[in-house]
Amino acid sequence: MKQDEKKSEILDKKKVSSQLSLSGWLDQRAPFLSFLKKEYIEFPMPKNLNIWWAFGAALCIILLLMCITGIFLSLTYVPTAQEAFLSIETIERRVPSGWMIRAIHIAGSNLFLFFMYLHLFRGLYYGSYKSPRELVWLSGLIIMMMIMITAFAGYVLPWGQMSYWAANVVMQALSSIPWVGKSLSYWLMGGTIPNTITLHRLFVLHFVVAFAILVIVGLHIIFFHVVKSNNPEGVEPCKEEEVLPFYPYFVCKDGVVIVFAIFLLVVLAFFFPNLLTNSENYISANPLETPTTIAPEWYFLPFYGILQVVPSKFGGVLLAMGSVCVLFLVPWLDRSPIKSCKYRPLHRVSLFLLIMSYITLGVVGKIHDQPLLIWLGRFALFYYYFHFLIVMPFSLRFDLQRSLPKSLLDAVRSKP
Ligand code: HEM
Repeated sequence: MKQDEKKSEILDKKKVSSQLSLSGWLDQRAPFLSFLKKEYIEFPMPKNLNIWWAFGAALCIILLLMCITGIFLSLTYVPTAQEAFLSIETIERRVPSGWMIRAIHIAGSNLFLFFMYLHLFRGLYYGSYKSPRELVWLSGLIIMMMIMITAFAGYVLPWGQMSYWAANVVMQALSSIPWVGKSLSYWLMGGTIPNTITLHRLFVLHFVVAFAILVIVGLHIIFFHVVKSNNPEGVEPCKEEEVLPFYPYFVCKDGVVIVFAIFLLVVLAFFFPNLLTNSENYISANPLETPTTIAPEWYFLPFYGILQVVPSKFGGVLLAMGSVCVLFLVPWLDRSPIKSCKYRPLHRVSLFLLIMSYITLGVVGKIHDQPLLIWLGRFALFYYYFHFLIVMPFSLRFDLQRSLPKSLLDAVRSKP
């Protein structure tokens, strides 16, 4: 009886003290602080995470930077065919620090796509798409598609020669879709060639999708927090000794990569601002003069490569779209119970060949006037699909299965 009285006394005291402090008062009404504590301070992360797990955090920071610089650029940018190019010149030469904001936006977009490819590759290598993380994977792919749309729309906005002709190539590719293609591209472009209406629509698309990405990233992180993190061994942690709290361990670890990312961004933006831009885009769009070579940004080159190696235009469009769509099926195509490629030697080799195929297609996207390269590109395209449609579903039968460590602690301890 006495013990019960003591307990209720302690509870009452706690209640009163939490009501007295402002944070306690606020937390009882809007539990943001306890949410932050649970999800970002105490959140358990596997002990053995390596550097590949830090790119998600770096992507979040670059995304914010892109949105902020984008808002500043849009204050001066004018989305009409007559004024777009001049307004970019105004940003570069007249707006105070305009050149810097634009340089950060351009370098940021390149770094963002580079980190996104690394983040995606990490997922493929360590099997982070497998149960129970399917929704994290699928939401990531939706973000990737939205980023591609945003990047394409953004590239057209300066209305230089490359911007104009890139829009032209994409709309022509769309118009190759049987029956509906021509009307679809006319409807999207607001005419038969890229014009002010197209530019206006792409500007709105660029702006709206960029902010929608923020929402889907929020969902992506919620899904991630529900199922918690995978790790390089692909063995789920089940003991308390196998995890560490997010703060301070992973805040510091992610912090190092974020600082490195910002350093890279500063070097690119301030020392090599022209490395990532095409000189052709410093010439205002001219519908009467086709540039000698039309090539997209490096991150779209593999898709452009697919368009080059497939003889039929529509076939190329289908296979290029399919190369992204097939990623959505990955959680169900891969039937192996082993997640990490560390324990799947044949699958690891196949994944390496897949990356090589993707890079080969990128090279073909850049240089496509040599028959030998075109054939190499066709072989690479074949292997790309072969990996997903044949190797993944059947690797369970052929892979040299290695035994998995019994627990995460065993795996971490057995390391030299
Ligand atoms: C704007 C783009 C993106 C942002 C900001 C982002 C952010 C994050 C963050 C913060 C995490 C947790 C930390 C980490 O594992 O790195 C994460 C995990 C994850 N992301 Fe993304 N992500 C993005 C795009 C993608 C894409 C394109 C994919 C590919 C489909 C993807 C798939 C995953 C997966 C599977 C995980 C779980 C990793 C694990 O538990 O092993 N994400 N993401």
